Amino acid sequence: MELCIIGSGYVGLVSGACFAEIGHTVVCVDNDQRKVDMLQRGEIPIYEPGLEDLVHRNVAAKRLRFTNSIADGVDHSQVVFIAVPTPPQADGSVDLTYIERVAREIAGVLKPGQYRVVVDKSTVPVKTGEKVDATIRRYNPAAEFDVVSNPEFLREGCAVPDLMSPDRIVIGSASQKATDLMKRLYEPFQSPILVTDVNSAELIKHAANSFLSLKISYINAVSAICEASGADVEMVADGIGTDKRIGRNFLNAGLGYGGSCFPKDVKAFIAIAEELGTPFHLLKEVERINSHQLDRYLKKVREALWVLRDKRIAVWGLTFKPDTDDVRNSVAIDLINRLVAEGAIVTAYDPKGMEKAVEYKLIPPSVKLVSSPLEAVEGAEALLLATEWKEFARQDFAAVKASMHTPLVFDGRNHFNPKTMREMGFVYYGVGRP
Ligand code: UDX
Repeated sequence: MELCIIGSGYVGLVSGACFAEIGHTVVCVDNDQRKVDMLQRGEIPIYEPGLEDLVHRNVAAKRLRFTNSIADGVDHSQVVFIAVPTPPQADGSVDLTYIERVAREIAGVLKPGQYRVVVDKSTVPVKTGEKVDATIRRYNPAAEFDVVSNPEFLREGCAVPDLMSPDRIVIGSASQKATDLMKRLYEPFQSPILVTDVNSAELIKHAANSFLSLKISYINAVSAICEASGADVEMVADGIGTDKRIGRNFLNAGLGYGGSCFPKDVKAFIAIAEELGTPFHLLKEVERINSHQLDRYLKKVREALWVLRDKRIAVWGLTFKPDTDDVRNSVAIDLINRLVAEGAIVTAYDPKGMEKAVEYKLIPPSVKLVSSPLEAVEGAEALLLATEWKEFARQDFAAVKASMHTPLVFDGRNHFNPKTMREMGFVYYGVGRP
C-alpha cells in the first residue's frame, strides 16, 4: 500500500521505516527542511537501535522517501498518518496546535474523488478525532475521507522491535471501509488487532501510559516502606510480579519515571478527566510519589555526605532510560541540576546523551562531561547512578574504587549487586533494599 506519514519524529520516522520494511511504499513528510535534508542524505536525527539500517535499506529499495510537501505525500497515499508532536501546555493539558494545522493542510490538498484514510498516531486527548474530522470537513466540504485513531505504543530504545511485533494494534474507526484498509495495512505484522470506536482508541493510549506510570509509582511507594522496615523491594517486586494478574514488568523501583511520554501523558489524562468533570485524583498521587523519589534519594546522599557544597560527585547516566540519546524530562538531568544548585562539583558520563544535554542546555556549564565512566569517578566522594546502561555494570570496579576519593555508591536504579559491591569495599545504597 502507499502511505504518507506527516511528522518525522520518533513515532513518525520509526513507523515509516517499519511500514516500508514490511513492503509498503512510504513518504515521510516533515516541515523542518533541515531534518528532511539530513534524512535525504541518509543521516538519522535520532539514535534508535536498528533504525539507521532500516532507513538505508528501504530508501535504497525505493520504498521510503522524505519530503517537506504534504501535497506530495497526500497525493500519493491511500492512508495519511498524522504523527506530529502534541506537547504539554503550562496547565498540563495537550497543545493540539500542530494537529489542527496538519488537519487544515490535509483539507487544503485533498482532491475531489480521492478517498483518504486520515490516521491519528500522535497521542491525543479523547474526542480529538471528532475535531480533526470536523476541521477537514469545514475547510474542504467535498473531501472524501475517514478519520481513524491508531495510537502508537513503541518505547524509545526498542522502538523498532516494538513496532515490528506489537502486543496489539488498536484501530479506532467508525467506517468499515477505513477499518478494512487499516487491517490490510497491518496484516503483515501478524499481531492481534483490536477494533474500537475512535474515542475508545484515543483513551486507550492515555489510560495505558497512566497505568504503567501508576505501576512504577506503586513500587516506588513500596520501596519507601521497604527502606523503613528493612525489607528488599526487589524481592517484593518478584513476589508480587510472579502473580500473572500483576506481572513483573514496570515494577522496577528507582528514581522514578521520566521521558517524553509518561510525565506528559499522566498530566494530560488528569487534565482530560478534569475537563470532562470526572477528576482522577489517583493520578495526582502517582505524580507526587514520582517526584518524591528524587527527594528521598537526595536525602540519602545528604545524610551520607552531610554538606554537598564543594563535594566532588560523579553521575553515571543522563538519558531518561538506557539505549536512547533522549535526555528530555530525564530524572538524571533533574538530579544533576539539584546537585549543582546545592554547590556540588559534578562530573558526568553517558554513552549517548551528552551531546543532546549540551545542545539543549539542560545542564549547567559547570558540569564536566567526560568520555568514560572511569574518568567520571576520578577523585569523587560519591558515585550516583542515574540511568541503568548495561556498560555501567561491566566496569572494572576495583579500578573505580581505586580512583574514587571515598567509595560511596548511590545506585538510583538498583543496577548493581549490593552484596558484590559491599564485598569490594564500597559503601552501597540502593533504592528500597538493604
Ligand atoms: C513509554 C511507554 O512504555 C510506551 O508504550 C509509549 O508508547 C511511550 O511511553 P518510553 O517513554 O520510551 O515508553 O519508555 P519506558 O521504557 O516505558 O520508560 C519510561 C520511564 O519509566 C523511564 O524513565 C524508565 O526509567 C521508567 N521506569 C520504567 C521505571 O522507573 N521503572 C520501571 O519498572 C519501568
